Amino acid sequence: MPELIVVDHPLVQHKLTLMRRRHTATADFRRLVREVALLLGYEITRDLPLETIAIDTPLEPMQASTLAGKKLCLVSILRAGNGLLDGMLDLVPSARVGHIGLYRDPATLQPVEYYYKVPEDLAERPVILVDPMLATANSAVAAVSRVKRDGATDIKFACLLAAPEGVRRFHEAHPDVPIFTAAVDRGLNDHGYILPGLGDAGDRIYGTK
Ligand code: PRP
Ligand code: URA
Repeated sequence: MPELIVVDHPLVQHKLTLMRRRHTATADFRRLVREVALLLGYEITRDLPLETIAIDTPLEPMQASTLAGKKLCLVSILRAGNGLLDGMLDLVPSARVGHIGLYRDPATLQPVEYYYKVPEDLAERPVILVDPMLATANSAVAAVSRVKRDGATDIKFACLLAAPEGVRRFHEAHPDVPIFTAAVDRGLNDHGYILPGLGDAGDRIYGTK
């Protein structure tokens, strides 16, 4: 069964409301994306495997839990994905990082790839793809297909906002990839923007409009 996890923690919902407000300043928006990314990341990494190792506390030896296996890989869908990436890296500083450069052609709403760089051993790592907006899902579907071509099998997708249309399309294309989001909004407008949404995530993070 395709999974949709809405992270309804009160702090996430409060910060999301601040981000949605049209007059929230760029610096505040960017800080809020980073903070929410950390909270989403906490949920997404909940099932990371642990192993037990021997350590010494100042008082005595003990068997203690530590993350097992290869370090996870965060893959940011440029450019707005970098807003989420920063918060997730605060949480998992030793994660490896990949980048997929995609922009939506405004006329066709189809993604255009302009950059791709991921760790060589992606197939051996848990992968978390990050992009604030899942609108038509064309970008996210293409990004997941791209990392699958490089062998990734353990994949999760994290966003701030999703449209119901995007969730359906994503689940049809990649039923094996769970979606983590802070909210599912009402729908899309004629230009593929999420309603009520928060506007253009890249522009709001970087102040380009
Ligand atoms: C935005 C957003 C997603 C995409 C979502 O990126 O960050 O990547 O749109 O839309 P979709 O689900 O309909 O594909 P945009 O193309 O505006 O590029 P940017 O991140 O460079 O601003
Ligand atoms: N991309 C955005 O940045 N915002 C939307 O609402 C839809 C796509």
